[in-house]
Order: sequence, then C-alpha cells, then structure tokens
Amino acid sequence: MKSSPFHNRIADQLDERRAKGLFRSIPPFAASPSNRIDCSTNSYLGLHANEEVGREASRLTGERLSGNCASRLIADHSDLYRQLESEIAQWEGTETALVFTSGYTANLGVIQALCTRSTEVFADRLNHASIFDGIRLSGATLIRYGHCDMAELKKCLQQSTAPEKLIITDTVFSMDGDRAPLCDIADLGRSFGALVMVDEAHATGMFGENGSGLVEATGTAKAIDIRMGTLSKAIAGLGGYVATSVRFRDYFVNFCRSLVYSTGLPHAVLAHNLAAIRYLREHPRLGAAVVKSAALLREAFERIGFSTGPATTQIIPCFVGDERETVALSTWLRAHGVIAPAIRPPAVPKSTSRLRFSWSALCGDEARTTISVHLQQWKSEHV
Ligand SMILES: Cc1ncc(COP(=O)(O)O)c(C=O)c1O
Repeated sequence: MKSSPFHNRIADQLDERRAKGLFRSIPPFAASPSNRIDCSTNSYLGLHANEEVGREASRLTGERLSGNCASRLIADHSDLYRQLESEIAQWEGTETALVFTSGYTANLGVIQALCTRSTEVFADRLNHASIFDGIRLSGATLIRYGHCDMAELKKCLQQSTAPEKLIITDTVFSMDGDRAPLCDIADLGRSFGALVMVDEAHATGMFGENGSGLVEATGTAKAIDIRMGTLSKAIAGLGGYVATSVRFRDYFVNFCRSLVYSTGLPHAVLAHNLAAIRYLREHPRLGAAVVKSAALLREAFERIGFSTGPATTQIIPCFVGDERETVALSTWLRAHGVIAPAIRPPAVPKSTSRLRFSWSALCGDEARTTISVHLQQWKSEHV
C-alpha cells in the first residue's frame, strides 16, 4: 500500500470504522425473489412497480432515452420539464416550481443561494445531511435546536440579532419517522420575521387531501416560503424540487450553483416523474392508507418489546441500541426473507442503532405477521 499523509489518514479512518463495527459498503446486486418482504426502499406507494405508471412513462418517453446533454440554463432539451414543474405547482398550490437533479442538490443549491454570512439559520438537529451541507456551503451561521423543541427554537430566535433569519426543518424525519410541529414553526416564523423552508422528502405523496405533503395536511401553506421535495421517494423516480413563488424561482435560476452548473435530468426520468405525479393526483389517498397500515406494525413491534420511539408515519425505527447487534438482526432477518437495513452512527446518535422499516403499499397484513413472527423468535433467542 502506498504511504503518504493522505493515504495514512484514509487507511486509519477506514480501520477505525471497521474496529467500531461501523464500516459501510454498498450491497451487491440481488434480484428480488417475489416472496421477499422489502422494507428498505423509499418507494412508499410502490409506484416503481405500478403498471399504469410504467405504461404512461413509456408513452411519454417515446424513443428518447438519452440525457439532457447540457445544463438547463444552456439548453432545455425536454418539454417534459415544463409539464412536470407545472404539474408540481398545481399539486402543491404554489405559483411555480423548479426541478433539480436530486433532493440533495435541491437543498444544497437553494440554501447556498438563499443565505449569506449575515444569515442565521435555525435548523432541527435531526434534519437531513443535505440541509447541513447547504448551510455550511453558504457561510451562514448555523443554530441547531433540539429535535422538535419549540421552546428552544423560540429562545434562539429571541436571542438573534441577525437581519436575515431562516428556519429549516424536515417535515417527516427520515430516521425517526416522526413529524415536525409545522403549525408552531409557522407561528414562530411569523412572529420573528423569519423565512421558513421545509423539506417534504418523506411526506410528499403521503399526507394531505391531495397527497402533496404535511404542509397541505397542516394548513400551513401561507406561512411557509419554500417547500422542497424529492421525486426519488414516494414518486419512485429521481430529482428534487422546490415549490414556491415566481420571485424565488427567478432567484434560484440565477443563483443556485447546483442548478446552473450541472446537467439537467434525462427525458426518460422526467417522464416517469410526470406519470407518477399524475397518477398520485388521481389517487390522492394512497399515502393515508399506508400510514394507517404502518401504525399496526408499530403496535406489533411495541408488543414484542421493540421501541419505535416517536414515529407516527410510514417510517418505523425498531430500536436495538448496540451497533453490532443491530447488524446481526438485520442480517438474520435478511436470511429469513425480510429486508430491513441497519442504521448506525454517524447517521444516528451513538447507542441508538436501529432497523429502519419503510412501510409501503406493497406490504400488507401477511408481511406484518411474518415480520412479527421473526422478531418474536429473535427476541426469545437473544434476551
Ligand atoms: C429529508 C431528506 N431530504 C433530502 C434527501 C435527499 O434526496 P435525494 O435522495 O432525492 O437526493 C433525503 C434523502 O434521503 C432525505 O431523507
């Protein structure tokens, strides 16, 4: 092995991860046997396997499988961008929308563009990594408040003398499956003259009469300036978006580096995204059914003796604690045909390792019973 300060540090970091049982790797490709229960994907509505969506996506794609071949600011080669943004804006009830190549680049670009060194950003400590990366990139001052702790957020806002204040929160937290108190956040934003941005990545398609997300479900649309979402989870495609005003869209088109300096999405991906959103708008209650069914799985876990923490959505953490034991349980379940990934630090705090079950429209009563039986067996053999 080559030796240099770089090589040595990298080798040390990898060794440390291995020693702590925290080493990560990308699982090898595995064709899905049809009897496997897969709780690892974010395709909460099963739209990746929906034949109607597939047919419509193929029709919209036509013969064109190639990419956009340039940044959108140089050339928009697909008319589907316009249709997709218009569909999202109608769904969200906003003036307009803007699509990015991923949820990650949407957060990175929007936050970097919005904030300056004189901005203070108030962020829930469990927000997604892309939010913290965007804040870091912008040079703004980061003020983390305790998870969903509205008293602390209020105190931080009271102490702030910054001319520009931005509150950012996930609406559904990706590792705990709980929901942000959006009504309180909207009130605090109004009271302290702060801009409010929310990340609906895990709420899009799941909540609200029209299925557009938690902003719709909580009636907070007027108080929230920027709604960000992804097309990679319930939509089962790829891309991120912001639903917002014309003025903010113009600003982002001019100042978001992740949009300006990166190639647009391929036509075929836009086609899937558009077909899936149209389907969802015609079937707006799909998400509510999944969230209801997930509650039954949570109850089953608690009965067996696994805490599910504060979860109230389709994301169900099954707390184990110890890192190695979490991996062992995940591996054991996989051998029994249940895919539930082990989530360990640094993705979650130390000693809170857990299995993360993503409940979906493709999982039903039978899957719930099978998982419960396996967990019960594990518990009786290991406690
Ligand atoms: C809350 C949240 N925001 C943003 C993202 C990034 O979205 P994408 O996977 O589309 O890049 C994720 C992805 O896991 C997420 O959980």
